[in-house]
Amino acid sequence: EEQNRELKERLMQLKKERNAIILAHYYQRDEIQEVADFRGDSFLLAQKAAQTDADVIVFCGVHFMGESAKILAPDKTVLIPDERAGCPMADMVNAEGLLDLKRKHPKAKVVTYINSSAEVKAVTDICCTSSNAVKVVNSLDADEIIFAPDKNLGRYVQQFTDKKMILWEGYCNTHDLLTLKDVEEMKAKYPNAQFVAHPECRPEVAAAADFVGSTTAILKYCRETDCDEFIIGTEDGTGYQLRKDSPHKKFYFASKYLVCPNMKVNNLKKVVRALETMQPQIYVPPVIADKARQALERMLQVQ
Ligand code: 13P
Ligand code: SF4
Repeated sequence: EEQNRELKERLMQLKKERNAIILAHYYQRDEIQEVADFRGDSFLLAQKAAQTDADVIVFCGVHFMGESAKILAPDKTVLIPDERAGCPMADMVNAEGLLDLKRKHPKAKVVTYINSSAEVKAVTDICCTSSNAVKVVNSLDADEIIFAPDKNLGRYVQQFTDKKMILWEGYCNTHDLLTLKDVEEMKAKYPNAQFVAHPECRPEVAAAADFVGSTTAILKYCRETDCDEFIIGTEDGTGYQLRKDSPHKKFYFASKYLVCPNMKVNNLKKVVRALETMQPQIYVPPVIADKARQALERMLQVQ
């Protein structure tokens, strides 16, 4: 407690000195979400990074998020609390593999989930996040879409488009672990609860949900729906905002394994240290950043 208070005071001081903002994904530890200037899903945080006039962005999430922030705001210093916080799904695709697939389907447009490296974004037509994937795919003037790396999100999108989706075989280790059996057990235990799921979940899990959406969409749905209990099919860090928005409602996570270990690598101490030492900083080689930026900016322009 005492240590936390001191860390928070130090952080406030450093934020002023450095003219920094702290962006935190909803899957971050509570102690980080508490001190963030903005909490959000990957789309909102990318938008905030693109718009900020701060000199320094401390991006609390996983590596690809900090990288996307740096690509969108190349003149800013982007710090991350710990370089080891990666995303296993982002690591399931590389630029070479994606180029091979493009050669096999020369007419297809490439849509890449923001959960990917800068190199992969650089060989992409347009990025998407879980909150705009359907809109992005349908905005394209092509009948075939190569979609990477999340096969679950890709299959979810396929339900809302006539285009042919060519899917990469990636998945999120955390969401893909949730099974229909887990969900059925929870529904039996809490028969009055609604079940909400992230589209990174398996198709049969998403099909069993009362609502499917990105982290922000799930939060909005739980806040605005006239129901007191929800079974949550996304990462456990969302509990912070869910409880803050609706203190009187009950939220049950659909499985105790809905924890992304990479998101939890960051803590308050590391956030303070990053601002103190101005390390680790994200660097993206300009030739890659320039191409990746086009794919990200195209996404930000899709309404
Ligand atoms: P959103 O932030 O788009 O909901 O994505 C979830 C996720 O897995 C981020 O890593
Ligand atoms: Fe990657 Fe899944 Fe963790 Fe998000 S929750 S960072 S997609 S492993």
